[in-house]
Amino acid sequence: MRRTILITGASSGIGLATANYFAKNNWLVFATMRNSEHYVNNQVENIVPLELDVTDKQKIKNCMDFVLKKVDKLDVIVNNAGFGGYGAFELSTPDQRQSMYDVNVFGMMNVIQEILPHFRANNSGLIINVSSIGGLMTYPLYSVYHSTKWAVEGFSESLNFELKHFGIGVKLIEPGVTKSNFVYGAQIMFKSNTVGDYDSYMNKLYLKVNETVARAIPSGKVAEKIFEAATDNKEKLRYPVGNSQSLILLKLRQILPLKLFIKLIRTRIEK
Ligand SMILES: NC(=O)c1ccc[n+]([C@@H]2O[C@H](COP(=O)([O-])OP(=O)(O)OC[C@H]3O[C@@H](n4cnc5c(N)ncnc54)[C@H](OP(=O)(O)O)[C@@H]3O)[C@@H](O)[C@H]2O)c1
Repeated sequence: MRRTILITGASSGIGLATANYFAKNNWLVFATMRNSEHYVNNQVENIVPLELDVTDKQKIKNCMDFVLKKVDKLDVIVNNAGFGGYGAFELSTPDQRQSMYDVNVFGMMNVIQEILPHFRANNSGLIINVSSIGGLMTYPLYSVYHSTKWAVEGFSESLNFELKHFGIGVKLIEPGVTKSNFVYGAQIMFKSNTVGDYDSYMNKLYLKVNETVARAIPSGKVAEKIFEAATDNKEKLRYPVGNSQSLILLKLRQILPLKLFIKLIRTRIEK
């Protein structure tokens, strides 16, 4: 039987590439997005575009009801919707922080809570959460974004325990810098007209951010990793994916004493 997947944030970047990748591999894909007018119809066959804002519980419910009337069984959901922002924490507003958490953390939780009764009833299902290499290590001036992805990491790792008894898997995709609207549209999000004390630090590091973006991997590479996670039948939690530099840095984060690793980041980024 044809396998089925629902993806959030499928209007662009990793979500769109993932929808196309699964569709090409003959999965039936529910490609959800806030505004389906934004949908770029690269691969019409096997893709059903649907409206879903992960911050709107009623829309999530309506969307799931629609999907579960169309198919007997949903096999996989990919919580991909998310965004980040660059800048000094002190200059961020409570509304900016709240909206990032509303999408990256609470939105993901909303979607998972809505699908769990279906997965439990089937005694199967796979939840794939798109985290980030930045969910396992940090760079300067991304504190709010990192905190959301560290939350995704801890939440997913713990959730994995309680859902295993129901035959439900949880996996994490951890991309390094990837070509998408997220990185190409990235502006300094947290800034102030009155506090100038962070300006030179933020401007200097912003140049480094742009150098990193030049080495971004294509969204299709992340889509391939998500496909691997969905099909390998392994009880594996974490799937990092990125350019060789990102993967080496991640390895160093895991093996070096933290003090040394932080010194390494400082010398690479702040010099
Ligand atoms: N690009 C990277 O370097 C990178 C690295 C690590 C992790 N990630 C993660 O990868 C995921 C996808 O990002 P991307 O890089 O592909 O960026 P992107 O091209 O900007 O895509 C983000 C997607 O999230 C959607 N979204 C935002 N708010 C939403 C909401 N309230 N409800 C539903 N969808 C919403 C966007 O929809 P709209 O079109 O409506 O705005 C868009 O489809 C994110 O979780 C991001 O944190 C990205």
